[in-house]
Order: sequence, then C-alpha cells, then structure tokens
Amino acid sequence: MSKFYITTPIYYVNAAPHIGHAYTSVIADCIGRYHRLKGEEVFYLTGTDEHGEKIKKAAAAKGMEPQPFVDMVSENFRNLWKALDVEYDYFVRTTDKDHTAAVQEVIRILNEKGDIYKAVYKAFYCVPCETFWTDTQVKEAGGSCPMCKRGVEEVEEENYFFRLSRYEDWLKKYIADNPGFIRPKIRRNEVTGFLENNKLADLCISRPKARVSWGIDFPLNGDYVVYVWFDALLNYISAPGFLSDKEKFKRLWPADVHLMAKDIIRHHAIFWPVMLYALGLELPGTIMAHGWWKMGEEKMSKSLGNIVNPLEVIKSVGVDGLRYFLLREISLGGDGNYCAQALINRVNSDLANDIGNLLHRTLNMAEKYFDGAVEAAGALPEMFRESFGRLSDYAPAMDNLELSAALEPVLAFIGAMNKSIEEVKPWALAKAAKTSELKEFIYSLLEGLRVVFICLYPFIPSSAVRAYGQLGLEAKFDLKDVSWGAVKRYNITKGEPLFPRIDVNR
Ligand code: MSP
Repeated sequence: MSKFYITTPIYYVNAAPHIGHAYTSVIADCIGRYHRLKGEEVFYLTGTDEHGEKIKKAAAAKGMEPQPFVDMVSENFRNLWKALDVEYDYFVRTTDKDHTAAVQEVIRILNEKGDIYKAVYKAFYCVPCETFWTDTQVKEAGGSCPMCKRGVEEVEEENYFFRLSRYEDWLKKYIADNPGFIRPKIRRNEVTGFLENNKLADLCISRPKARVSWGIDFPLNGDYVVYVWFDALLNYISAPGFLSDKEKFKRLWPADVHLMAKDIIRHHAIFWPVMLYALGLELPGTIMAHGWWKMGEEKMSKSLGNIVNPLEVIKSVGVDGLRYFLLREISLGGDGNYCAQALINRVNSDLANDIGNLLHRTLNMAEKYFDGAVEAAGALPEMFRESFGRLSDYAPAMDNLELSAALEPVLAFIGAMNKSIEEVKPWALAKAAKTSELKEFIYSLLEGLRVVFICLYPFIPSSAVRAYGQLGLEAKFDLKDVSWGAVKRYNITKGEPLFPRIDVNR
C-alpha cells in the first residue's frame, strides 16, 4: 500500500483559531481524504506550536502560567477540527515529551557533525513572527519587521548557531534541479530570488533563558532554550517517530506535501531542507504555499482584529457550506477576500440549487414512479457521454493539488444532469407510460449522483455520507467506483434536502 504524508503548519496557541487556520486544515483534509479514496495509507499531521516569547506573553496577559494556557488554547484547535470534519491522524504539540526529546537529539547530532557553534548575535527580533532579522533587512523594510511590518526589538546576546551557510550551494542546486519542490511558481521564484540576492546567514537556534524561558532546554547548555522555529519545524519528523518509532518513521518519511500560507515559505523552503539535509534525511516532495484570506486589503489575523470565527460561520451555513466555500472560492496559491455574501451565494448556487436539488428531485422521482426501487437499466446514455467522460480530469487535478479545478468537471456533470431533466421531461414519459425509458433515465441520474458524491466526498464529507444514505448505499467511498453501472439496484430512502437554501433576510 503506498503512503501519503501531508502536514499543516503547527499553529501558534496565542489565540483562538480563525478562518485562515481553518483554510489550511480543510485543504489538507480534502487532499488527505482524496488519497484515502485512492486506497493509500494517509498520515495527516497537524498540531500546535506552543513555545516562545509570544505565547508566554499571551499567557501572562490572561494571568496564567504558560502550560495551562497552551493546554487550553490547543484544545480550541482540536475542537475546531472536530467541528470542521478535519480528519487528522496525529496531533503534535511541541510541549510533548517525544517532540522535546527529538529536538534535543537533533541538536546533539548536528553538534557532533560540527554544524553548531556559539557566537555573539546582534540582530533585530520580531516577537509576533518569532523571527530574527538583520540590520539591512530591517532598514529595507523601513525600520520594521519585513514580514508583518510591526516593530522589532534590537537584541545582542550570545547564542548558538546552525551553519546554514555551509549548505547554500547545495540548496540552490537542489531547488534548481527540482522544479516541483516549491510551489506555486511565484513562491519558488521568491525563494530563488532571495537566495540569489542574499548570502545565506547561519541560523540562530537558541535564546538565553534570561530573556525567554518558555522553550525546550537547549541540550548543550542549560542557560538556553531552543529557538522556537527550530523547535517547531522538527515536528514534521518527531511526530512520525524520528526518535520514538523507527519503523513508522521509515514507512512515512519523507512527507509528500508540506502545506502552509505564503508568509512562512522561507522557513520551510530554506531552513527546513537544510536541516534535513544536514541530518542525512530525505527531503519532502512538495512545499506548497497557499494565499491569504483577507478582509478588504488586510490579511485576516488576530493582531489586526479582523478575524472571523469559523464556529459562527458553521452555525449559519453548515460545516460543508464553509468547507465548500473555502475550497472552491480561490484556487490554491491565490489570495481571497472573505465576504459573507459571497459565501451565502456560493452555498445557495452550487450546493442548494445544483447539487442538493438534483439529488432531491431524483429521489422524488424514484419514489413517485418506482416506489424507491430502481434496477439497473441501460448503458451510459449518449447525452451524458461527454460530461461523464470529463470526470477523468478530476483525479489528475486532485493529484496536482488543484482542488477548485478538480471540482469543475464534477459541477459540469451535475449541470448536465439538471439540464437533462428539463429536456427529457420524465413527467411526460410517466404520463405516456413509457416505463422502460423512464426507468433508464432515473437509473442514470442515480448512477450519476453516486459517482458525483465520490468525487465530492473529500470536499463535503458529511453531506456525501448523508447523500449515500438517501441513495440507499453504504458510505464506503472508493475512487475505483467512479465507473458506470456498478450498482444493480437502488433502494432509496428520501430524506431532508441536503442543503437548504440560506435565506439572507433571516
Ligand atoms: N507556528 C508557526 C508555524 C510553524 S510550522 C513548523 C505559525 N503559526 S500561525 O499560527 O501563525 O499559523 C500560520 C498558518 O495559519 C499559516 O501558514 C496558514 O497556514 C494559516 N493562516 C493564518 N492566517 C491565515 C490567513 N489569513 N489566510 C490563510 N491562511 C492563514 O506561523
């Protein structure tokens, strides 16, 4: 059985999750479910990033010690994933013992290889991004953090460094030789441009406890903790068992897809590959950066105070309404503007009018004309030949992480089925007692729906399960069943409409 290993970033637990976090996790879930449809062993890793100055400050602001605070916020993330049907396989926390031990071991290994040294560090630090910047980088950004544009603080401290510079030539060559490693192309160009214009500086991987106490003990010196990004990136190997379960690690590593938003591409496409290479480990298949959900011109973020709570959105449009909108509205890589009206329009048009209505009408007719029992009748009708054929574009698009594009042939087939009802006029066939023609037609709609919900399952899993219940089918989804004529007899159980129209004036 082949494996598929996908990750989300591990999210900071300084505040509750919002639509931006939901976006990444839902994308990863959709991709993971698709690979399960293909029969692969999927390992979907997510979790929380719980160390560093920012978290400590957030805990203090609530009058709490860091550990109970991170326990509480980390739980919020798990609750949201449950509410969003995000089916992860492992939830890593950087405060876990296994993770901590793995991070310390990695530092020991790299130290033995001569890749770690101690020196005085003078730089600027951005607490919200937990990132160091050089004098030039801050100057070029007009005196603030180049990533988030907020204020930075000057630090001068003795620290431990990882010899990133030693691997600069190797990294440049690796990126040049592997065009699919950093995606989309715009991010690959950004990283290549950065490497061309800047000499790769060694990475500071410690913070003195006197300044930052909330972190993993630095194994070479008890007066230090591990720098939070060095700690965090290692979750991708600690969780699948780098230190704790060698067999599992061998089976799962390397990751196939690391998913994240574009703002943290450099950490993943520069620091991370070098760390892995220095450790003698294989590199991940693809580092895929998606865009931002924005509110107007600004990125949706807690610090800007413009966040939308996914749990509230689920209350109005349902879990699959939100999932569908996030996955359909923007193509992976681009930015999107979050707008409640666009969300409602999308749910009403695609889910309620097109998909839900087709299912409901078909089930009504199956019940009305055949008491809910419809046997296989006829081959794939000529009128569906082209639109059904186009479904062969679905899997290549999904394999290539083009989720919104993968939906297009599915929606086109649904459109063709809706249109066919108007053209065939089954009510007229019933009136004229053309029973076998009528049965052939209703059977073809049921078959079409069966296939459509396999393709939709990664996007709207709980609705696909409900639809299968109404079609009288066991909810076992398998990509191999996207073929015509697999079900010999339908015994349907009509239920409530899958997607009631959202009334804006409610
Ligand atoms: N802890 C680091 C990641 C370490 S991974 C080894 C971090 N955490 S974060 O809480 O800031 O989460 C960042 C991730 O959340 C982004 O990479 C993205 O996946 C998601 N998003 C947060 N806000 C977002 C938007 N407004 N839009 C889209 N995605 C967003 O960085």
